Amino acid sequence: MMRKIQAPKGVSEYFPPRSQNFEYVRETLITSAKLAGYQLMELPVFEDTELFKRGVGESTDVVSKEMYTFEDRGGRSITLRPEGTAGVMRSVIQYNLDKLSLPLKLWYSGAFFRAERPQAGRYRQFYQVGIEAIGSSSPELDVEVISVADSAFKKLGIAYRLDITSLGDSQSRSAHRKDLVAFIAKLDLDDATRQRADINPLRLFDDKREEIKEKMQEAPLLLDYLSAESAASFSKVKELLTILGIDFVVNPRMVRGLDYYTGTTFEFVSEKLGAQSGIGGGGRYDGLMQELGGSDISGIGFGIGVDRVLLACEAEGILSEDGSGASLEVFLIALGDNNKDQVIQLLNQLRNQGISADMEYGDRALKGAMKAADKSGAKYSAVLGDGEVASGVLQLKDMKTGIVKEVRISDLVNEFTKR
Ligand code: HAM
Repeated sequence: MMRKIQAPKGVSEYFPPRSQNFEYVRETLITSAKLAGYQLMELPVFEDTELFKRGVGESTDVVSKEMYTFEDRGGRSITLRPEGTAGVMRSVIQYNLDKLSLPLKLWYSGAFFRAERPQAGRYRQFYQVGIEAIGSSSPELDVEVISVADSAFKKLGIAYRLDITSLGDSQSRSAHRKDLVAFIAKLDLDDATRQRADINPLRLFDDKREEIKEKMQEAPLLLDYLSAESAASFSKVKELLTILGIDFVVNPRMVRGLDYYTGTTFEFVSEKLGAQSGIGGGGRYDGLMQELGGSDISGIGFGIGVDRVLLACEAEGILSEDGSGASLEVFLIALGDNNKDQVIQLLNQLRNQGISADMEYGDRALKGAMKAADKSGAKYSAVLGDGEVASGVLQLKDMKTGIVKEVRISDLVNEFTKR
């Protein structure tokens, strides 16, 4: 027997009926971004490896352990994108998009790749919807970015916790870094950990090992070192979040998994999920554009994990795994070969008016055809047999209530368009 080919380990895949839910979650996130004036960026899924090394940072797990890197046929080092922000910045710089009116507000959606150990909610290919607002340091923009995610979560109906902190400006960070480095120098650490700390001492706050967590208990916190300007900006962010009714928890030990963050940083957490509870995160990145060879302008954005938001919706019972997001309006059944032509015409008319419609394509008897109508998840169904064609009237059945309404065949399209 031939070997059965399987998907590579740890990738997320969506097919019917659950793909309806996936699409619903993704579109809800995208709609929220579009309502706030963000415009589409469609970017390559592979980039020059150097982009992520410089942009995301070599001290991060994402770059040091999780990148899918390979040599292309021209001997160039290529990496499947592990995240979206670096690619957006690369494109903004390459095409001088920052010469357009600022802030530049962009959204993207697609697959991302990290060679992590797969588990529930953690995949090697996963999906994000992200936004980036580039070219303004205004705290109002920080709050806008957070509110775009908040609106989508509220629309979906999921509960979440917003953890927030500020990593300050370069003045705040260098004051803190001095004390943190001195603190870390006194700790007894293995070589690999010390090396990571040398590149970015903040990484040690993110270490999952208990002994390191304990050692970091007394470490100086960046939030206590904010410059007057950074402190004022962070206060403004908190004040505006409160005005908008967006709850948050200040978490001064939060460290994001990517090195480019400065200023306001945040994470969205779902308590309904197990270990992989981070449904999204983001923050400001003051130096990123310059680091990648562009001008010295700041930006802020988020990446929301569509896979995890979907899991959260299912955990909360908002969406069921049988694809309750299904949206087919009407399902038609032709009884007898000679009535198929008319059903096909009706389908076409309905679809041309923007009404989703499908039909039974097999030659099943009525019972089998009704089962197919059930399975289709359509809101309404109707049978077209010789009797209906002769009288010109069909029975439109509401699939949920079972209530039947007589409708003239010639009025069927109208019946849906007037709703
Ligand atoms: P991130 O926190 O690395 O940020 O990823 C954002 C979200 O993607 C996570 O909160 C999580 O929901 C989802 N995610 C990450 N890795 C996986 C995985 N292996 N499997 C499933 N879901 C995953 C970023 O990527 C930044 N680019 C966000 C950003 C935009 N910051 C500023 N602008």
